[in-house]
Amino acid sequence: MKITEALLANFTSSSDTRNFYRDFSRYLGITEQYRLARLAIGRSMNDGVVPDPAADARGNPLKGAVLFGAEEAEHLPWLAHICERLLQRSLPITLAALQSFVRDHWHRGCALLRADWETSGESYDRFIEILARSAALPDDLTQKDATFADTDKHSDLPNAKAITIKLGHRVDSGEAVAWTINGRGYSPNLAIMGQAGSGKTFAMLGFLAEVRRQSPIPVLLIDAAKDELADKPELDSLNLEVRKIPSQPMPLDIFHGCDISQDASRDAAVAFAESLDRALADTGLTANQKPRVVEALRPLLSKKTSVTLLDVQAALNAHYEAQGLKEDRVLSVMKTINFYKLTQPELSPADFFSSSWLLTFGRASEDTRRLTVFLLFDALDRYLKSLPEAPLDVDGNRAIRIILAIDEARPLLAARHAGLSNLVRTHRSKGLVVMLASQSPNDYDGQTDDFMQQIGLPVCFRTNSSASAALSNMFKSKKGVNFSSLQPGQCLTVVDNAMALLKTY
Ligand SMILES: Nc1ncnc2c1ncn2[C@@H]1O[C@H](COP(=O)(O)OP(=O)(O)OP(=O)(O)O)[C@@H](O)[C@H]1O
Ligand SMILES: [Mg+2]
Repeated sequence: MKITEALLANFTSSSDTRNFYRDFSRYLGITEQYRLARLAIGRSMNDGVVPDPAADARGNPLKGAVLFGAEEAEHLPWLAHICERLLQRSLPITLAALQSFVRDHWHRGCALLRADWETSGESYDRFIEILARSAALPDDLTQKDATFADTDKHSDLPNAKAITIKLGHRVDSGEAVAWTINGRGYSPNLAIMGQAGSGKTFAMLGFLAEVRRQSPIPVLLIDAAKDELADKPELDSLNLEVRKIPSQPMPLDIFHGCDISQDASRDAAVAFAESLDRALADTGLTANQKPRVVEALRPLLSKKTSVTLLDVQAALNAHYEAQGLKEDRVLSVMKTINFYKLTQPELSPADFFSSSWLLTFGRASEDTRRLTVFLLFDALDRYLKSLPEAPLDVDGNRAIRIILAIDEARPLLAARHAGLSNLVRTHRSKGLVVMLASQSPNDYDGQTDDFMQQIGLPVCFRTNSSASAALSNMFKSKKGVNFSSLQPGQCLTVVDNAMALLKTY
């Protein structure tokens, strides 16, 4: 049997595995089927006894590449373990034997996990403890293996609970309206729009303050254009640490953990090239320059920890020299960027993202401002990917790990960097909430449909710009929405699936 055969084949187990997924994806806050399948298979394999055959094969099938992972670092250990078990029982290593092994263990694992869940008294924390105990993990993990795991400050999350913000009163009835950010069945992300002086920043800071009154959730507030936020009295209650970039560097180890594997350093190098490309206002990088940046960075990121932008510049210089390439824009841009110290590898992502910050960019050039924010998005994306899903409470409210709030988000939306849309689209299950404030509904023109669908609540103050079809859709209006007649302090939003006119506080 070739490994690719196993990756392309379907693996199925009993209909009970499907019921298990239905129940436990909710209890554990895990939405991907393969994660629960791996948990069940692993749980059963750890039990030591050969399982009885599965009751049937009517569960949902999963492709091998999904069940075991497409990357070698993921699927090879799984396949090696399974083959070892087959050999111990003198079974042939064939695809059929592999499928039958998976079918039986997946089925029994679900029953074992249900029993563990009962033993835990249906407590998430107890359940994890039981699993960790039964896994009998070695206690001699090396530092490198434990890069993220042992520094995960978020693992002791406050229990999931509903976080509700007051939005205002209905103009027609006077009824007070509130919104639960992290409720079940919709996205927790918020888009606040409106012309200059219409009250966006006021509203956003008010929402953040309400969240913080209910729970000490870390807030990462970015003032992407002005320096005005740092001086707002409303900020006092948020207790944020202020960093004025570029005079004060962002204290984050942006490439943390990228040396853990070849895949990780490659992905980080590609993400850096992409971020640099999107940060450079008019032209970006050429088709030749992007792979050059990746090639120059891969060895650096795979070997060195605490990589700085100066290291990046040095690696690029060395690569150009070794390849006999003429100095071009990439090198001159890096040189210019490094006139400032934009970032400094002081804190690991686990430490940085568990504190609350205000990053302002008042005096930074457009390019450096965008690059810093994009590198921050990349680091947050990598960090959240490394974490387990955020738990749900019994009503399906998801624990919030971090709120990323961006004021003056227009230039970042306009740059169409994949990082922001990635964060909005993929990390809801990890407990990320994104709040965006920008001047005009047009800032969302051209964003992908998935991006728009992940905006759980649109709030628009007065503006003369008209809403695009995608945005009218967001406001549940078929015939288009007019925001120009809104009075100061009034906004349009969506309540109970219908557009509502509110007076804000
Ligand atoms: N609901 C409100 N109640 C009382 N004052 C408000 C309210 N909303 C906004 N304001 C006040 O109106 C002024 C403008 O508000 P804000 O700075 O939030 O506007 P903005 O939309 O962020 O503008 P800009 O685009 O210039 O950043 C501020 O002085 C703010 O304190
Ligand atoms: Mg503002």
